[in-house]
Amino acid sequence: PTVYVINGPNLNLLGTREPEQYGRATLADVEELCRSAAEAHGFGLVFRQSNYEGELVSWVQEAGAARAAGIVLNAAAYTHTSIALLDAVAAVAVPVIEVHITNVHAREPFRHVSYVARAAKGVICGLGPQGYALAIAGLAGLVTQREL
Ligand code: DQA
Repeated sequence: PTVYVINGPNLNLLGTREPEQYGRATLADVEELCRSAAEAHGFGLVFRQSNYEGELVSWVQEAGAARAAGIVLNAAAYTHTSIALLDAVAAVAVPVIEVHITNVHAREPFRHVSYVARAAKGVICGLGPQGYALAIAGLAGLVTQREL
């Protein structure tokens, strides 16, 4: 079983981008964290980042077609704007956990709205990069729950 971790725009700049907001961990650090979490739960990992909305949509579809165990999605700013990503998440029969490094609810009002969340299984925000690892643990829990 494979977990897709899909990252949206500007997350390639993690580490140097507004460190007071997002911290000093780079996207490579986040990938490493995800790789150990995936391994610990017996998942393979596909880890991607794009600044292009349509590419994110295609990857959600790809994870659906591949019957992935789950998707961890930090759609970054597209979270708050993209009906296309919402539709993609709704279209796939794969649980999607929305993740944000920051607590979006403590930030500007335009970040309080998530289109993606309407079709997400769950949402984790505000816990920093470890939110990704928690989401992967959550997907493992969902698999176990389905088997009960
Ligand atoms: C983010 C929060 C979004 O509002 C913002 O546009 C991002 C990153 C986060 O991980 O905290 O780019 O998704």
